[in-house]
Amino acid sequence: MIITIDGPSGTGKSTVAKGVARRLNFTFFDTGAMYRAMAWFLLERKVSPDEHNRVCSLLSEFDFKIKTESQGGRRYFVNGTEVTDVIRTQQISTLASQVAVISEVRKAMVKIQRDFGRSSDAVFEGRDMGTVVFPDADLKIFLTAKPEVRAERRYRELLGKFPDLAESFSLEQIHKDIVERDHNDSTRAISPLKQAQDAILIDTSNLSADQVIEKIVELQRKRAKHRKYPRMKFAYWIVLSAARWFFKLFFRLKIYGTEHFRPGAGIIAANHASFYDPEVVSISCPEEVHFLAKESLFKIPLFGRFIRTLNAHPVSRDASDAATFRLIIQLLQHGKKVILFPEGRRSPDGEIHELEKGLPFLVQKAKCKIFPVYVAGTFEAWPINRSLPKIWGRISCVFGTPIEWESFEGLDKKEAMAKINERTERSLRALKSWFEAGAKGTPP
Ligand code: DC
Repeated sequence: MIITIDGPSGTGKSTVAKGVARRLNFTFFDTGAMYRAMAWFLLERKVSPDEHNRVCSLLSEFDFKIKTESQGGRRYFVNGTEVTDVIRTQQISTLASQVAVISEVRKAMVKIQRDFGRSSDAVFEGRDMGTVVFPDADLKIFLTAKPEVRAERRYRELLGKFPDLAESFSLEQIHKDIVERDHNDSTRAISPLKQAQDAILIDTSNLSADQVIEKIVELQRKRAKHRKYPRMKFAYWIVLSAARWFFKLFFRLKIYGTEHFRPGAGIIAANHASFYDPEVVSISCPEEVHFLAKESLFKIPLFGRFIRTLNAHPVSRDASDAATFRLIIQLLQHGKKVILFPEGRRSPDGEIHELEKGLPFLVQKAKCKIFPVYVAGTFEAWPINRSLPKIWGRISCVFGTPIEWESFEGLDKKEAMAKINERTERSLRALKSWFEAGAKGTPP
């Protein structure tokens, strides 16, 4: 899923985009930093933005890298040199605005941005994200604010970052620069700064960053709730609808957090306390999902047909782990979602127990998202020591914020395995606490 946040500088774009990304567990991409880094690179090489041919010939030498720190901070590098702070000076701001009008530069930047957007849920912040780079973005925001307010914000930001240089900039100068840059950015022939037709306009002049973040997160949740998923197969839909009615009628089934659901491949990782879990999780999902079930279950007359129609895949008692993993990876590679119970076995007491190594192994192999799900009430309805289930009770299914595999990228294998399990278990426990505390608002 892609959220674009465009608008002129000083509207609080970066703070807001970062905050939204943190709240939704999305990646944050500051595209202005790329143009600034390019400006820094040209300055280093003593090439002026007017020297069109020299700029174009240097493009292939421009190697831009982003490193994400464990606390979520980002550091920017050009050809191995860190430029995180130096690209924020006033001189670079002016240069970046000139660099950004060169069509070859824009083409190169847009390609990097689109490549990045293909693989992850991200918040893209810039000038032309909603109009040019991601015209099909799921949610487009355009921020504005009065020039005086923006100049004041920029002034305070610069004072904070470069207190020693306080004498070299003034509020009046910054105000003048902002007006000039707005003019440059919005009148240039290529990708001018403008609001996309379907973007939502937010004036941040009288709003705090937190208020704007809250507004956008709310908008995203509303969009996600009404998102269209691929049409289900008819038989699947019939069985799912019937099963939903059954569980709603007899178990007062409640489903929370479907706004966290996203299209595309992923492992739905649920706690496991009962034979009811696979059915409850699969009928709670807003799109078709797959799960594995013991081969013997397919032999039970009606139940066998029921689970087969719900995309259950038989796993024989003596199938090796390797064969099972191969099947799951194949499904994931075809863009499907697969339900998995990372504890490996049903809980003896209804509590969440330590996770086994299957989940992190699969996530690393398939490089896919994890959708954590907490199922409540199935243990009471059909615990491990009961051969026959109850057919009444109260069952709930809670979807949490997805976990991106990118957050484990770059870690060594062993560390990544441990971290994936740690994060998933933490998320399952957080969903349980949220549910037990009264299930208010959006699940974590
Ligand atoms: O958002 P910022 O101030 O860091 O952006 C620096 C410059 O880059 C600004 O003059 C506009 C330009 N820019 C652009 O043209 N397109 C983008 N997507 C992002 C920034």
